Amino acid sequence: MKISIFGMGYVGVVSAACLLRDGHEITGVDPVGEKIDDLANGRTPIQEPKVAEMLSAGHQAGRLHATTQPSEALDGCQMVWVCVGTPSLHDGGINTASVEAAARQIGACLRDATDPPLFVLRSTCLPGTTQRLIIPCLEESSGLKVGKDLDVVFHPEFLREGTAVHDFDNPPKIVAGEVRPGAADRLMSIYEQYQAPRHRLELGEAEMVKYCDNLFHAVKVTFANEVGAIARTVGVDARRVADVFCSDTKLNISTYYLRPGFAFGGSCLPKDLRAILRYASLAPVRVPMLDAIMESNELQVETLTARLLAHRPKSVGMVGLAFKPDTDDMRESPYVKVAKRLIGEGITLRIYDPGVHPDRLIGSNKEAVQAALRHLEALLVTSLECLDDCDVIVINHRAVDAARITGWQAAGIHVIDLVGIAGVARPSDRYEGIAW
Ligand SMILES: NC(=O)c1ccc[n+]([C@@H]2O[C@H](COP(=O)([O-])OP(=O)(O)OC[C@H]3O[C@@H](n4cnc5c(N)ncnc54)[C@H](O)[C@@H]3O)[C@@H](O)[C@H]2O)c1
Repeated sequence: MKISIFGMGYVGVVSAACLLRDGHEITGVDPVGEKIDDLANGRTPIQEPKVAEMLSAGHQAGRLHATTQPSEALDGCQMVWVCVGTPSLHDGGINTASVEAAARQIGACLRDATDPPLFVLRSTCLPGTTQRLIIPCLEESSGLKVGKDLDVVFHPEFLREGTAVHDFDNPPKIVAGEVRPGAADRLMSIYEQYQAPRHRLELGEAEMVKYCDNLFHAVKVTFANEVGAIARTVGVDARRVADVFCSDTKLNISTYYLRPGFAFGGSCLPKDLRAILRYASLAPVRVPMLDAIMESNELQVETLTARLLAHRPKSVGMVGLAFKPDTDDMRESPYVKVAKRLIGEGITLRIYDPGVHPDRLIGSNKEAVQAALRHLEALLVTSLECLDDCDVIVINHRAVDAARITGWQAAGIHVIDLVGIAGVARPSDRYEGIAW
């Protein structure tokens, strides 16, 4: 395929080298003349293992071209990749000037084109950028209608410098955000021989996926370093701890605890977090990320309460009160905190939790819930139907199905879903998810 790549930096050059190796014809575009001179002579403008040999072979085969002129690059091209930089601004935001400029240059070359190339954006951009900024730039400069005359795909890049060719060849996943279903067909065809899961998403979802990955990587490094700092204060080798931690692929290195939802609670996580933070403060060792966890968790409770109160309900129904389903443990349950806040606002509360029987509660569990909700017996109901006349229902446990939610919506009840009940039509009236 004839592919033009705008931006001959780390991502653009590695992509060019790998696509050349796969037999494609590549034109590299960059305003920096020295980079174009290098490429035009089959040399690499960046240092990255294997890239020099791959570019040289592509050049000898006559399939590598380079230019500073966008119009030369777009002549007969079937797909254009934009890999220009999106560096930080002083305020922390991203500088989209290069992506906008590239989109305008490309659009201007496509004015009234009858068979325009697929526009593929690879630069890391904040969610919404392609839709709100790049597509208008393209449409204004080309006179074409995106989604009809011209297709746009956001295609995040996951390579790491130093192992970039290996990462391009062994991607953890291939992600394409499409302006319309099917827009990425041409892009996906070049990956036919690549072994990797494919994900076709909406534009904003694909943009967010890239940030989700990088946020998690940053969190992982910081987590390991903060745990290491605490371990060191007692002479514990944090690498041995990390070995055991990482060997647990059931609960630790797994999909557990990584789904968006509500606050954590229960008798262990808050207690153990508090204990280690207290220990660290006395050691003393600074662990700012771990320190911030409790505040972030409390914020979940505050935010949900505010979202509930925004509906000005007279009555609220709750599905689930224990800190998780199939237990009656309410110690530090975040749902107990929300319930307490709602009662404090004078709201009539009804709670359905088939696992909780006030007459059977004993010990610290009984004391904790009695301290927060003194008249628990009066709040609990025995069936979901008892919630049918509430103004708002919040689903804390997976104890309802989509049909029940649809019925509540039809009856004029607003439903807030913290667990993601499968099968609920979205978007739909009187339904909101905690993060969807
Ligand atoms: N470097 C990485 O490891 C990596 C990995 C994944 C994603 N990304 C993302 O990919 C994007 C590119 O990163 P990079 O490290 O390759 O950037 P880079 O700064 O190395 O290269 C960007 C290139 O774009 C060129 N450029 C600027 N305006 C242009 C225009 N209008 N037309 C053509 N070329 C233009 C610049 O001259 C430069 O050569 C960024 O958004 C980055 O966040 C980078």
